[in-house]
Amino acid sequence: MRQAAAPSSVEGALDGQFQRTWEFLAGIGRNGRTGGYRRFAWTAVDLELRAWFAEQASQRGMDYHCDRNGNQWAWWGAPATGALVTGSHLDSVPDGGVYDGPLGVVSGFLAVDLLRARGVEPGRPIAVTNFCDEEGARFGVACIGSQLLTGVLDPDRARGLRDVDGHTLAESMQRAGADPSTMGRDDEALSWIGDFVELHVEQGQRLVHLGAAVGVATAIWPHGRWRFRFEGEANHAGATRLVDRRDPMLPFASTVLAARALAEQAGAVATVGKVHVVPNGTNAIPSRVDAWLDSRAPDETTVADLVAAITTTAQRAASSADTTVEVTRESYSPVVDFDARLRNRIHEVLGGVPELPTGAGHDAGILSARVPTAMLFVRNPTGVSHSPAEYASAVDCVAGVRALAAVLEDLSCR
Ligand code: GLV
Ligand code: MN
Ligand code: MN
Repeated sequence: MRQAAAPSSVEGALDGQFQRTWEFLAGIGRNGRTGGYRRFAWTAVDLELRAWFAEQASQRGMDYHCDRNGNQWAWWGAPATGALVTGSHLDSVPDGGVYDGPLGVVSGFLAVDLLRARGVEPGRPIAVTNFCDEEGARFGVACIGSQLLTGVLDPDRARGLRDVDGHTLAESMQRAGADPSTMGRDDEALSWIGDFVELHVEQGQRLVHLGAAVGVATAIWPHGRWRFRFEGEANHAGATRLVDRRDPMLPFASTVLAARALAEQAGAVATVGKVHVVPNGTNAIPSRVDAWLDSRAPDETTVADLVAAITTTAQRAASSADTTVEVTRESYSPVVDFDARLRNRIHEVLGGVPELPTGAGHDAGILSARVPTAMLFVRNPTGVSHSPAEYASAVDCVAGVRALAAVLEDLSCR
């Protein structure tokens, strides 16, 4: 399948090519004050990123395609059943790092460049993808593009999801020139994915401790998001006696502390990272506090038991403050064990790279319910993610591209 030896100039140019691509992309959606990225689905920044993706496809003479759910595809070869697909996402959490997502997309394009430069003729088409709205930062549900594609997320529910300003996903897509009416399970696009390999920055420091630039994922912890809506009565902060208050901030605060303590006991993690207070005035007792719990654990029973225990605590705390609480599950992803065949191949090809599980969610996890998937991780010296402090050295990123290229070359002829 290999036609000719790699021209050494192309091998040597990879570092520069990575730097140039990366620097260009790093300029899109960065907040000058915080240094974090604000790349939310279907915003002007997202459209710039999507245009960048289409342009990358065009520069390489790859066929560009946007599927019914807004996921972008760049094809080396014609779209066909059972292709080899790589990629990740370009959106971010609020003030996120630059690597989470884009590293996988850029690495996909550069791996294609490397294979072409080496004269590789893949035995099946290869596609690079940008999955739409992976983080769910704007509409609250993670992995919207892959969940719609696989039929996990109901399209009517997706269309009606609202952002913080009350705009629905459907309206936002329309404003961005996309058609929300055809969203939903897409068996044709799914059939294109014979195997999916996502490269991602590690969200932790295991590879640092193991002294390896690249690792392979074993599993994703089950995880979900729950909205806790505490309701009481708005009133004056100075003129209302403490005994007369129905203050939803109190059960909210108890619930946050309980979530931490209960998660510790369970060997799990629980996070309240997003809160809306109504009316959000310094001198007003709130009428409502909406808080979002993100909970994850190595197994599904632990997640379910933990969320049940946090809910019970919240209900007791709400009732003792003469307030109410309503708990709504907004999304849930079951445990993922990555495909053993792909993991074994990756070990063969990369020569026994370390294996590691992750508590972070990914499109590869959603897709794994329907198609064989695998993930490669690239070392992150800070271990930090979902923050501007997220980092990977250029040397490790290039090692990631080389690893991905080797895996794609191997899998493309299987
Ligand atoms: C996505 O990065 C998640 O794990 O929530
Ligand atoms: Mn993320
Ligand atoms: Mn990610």
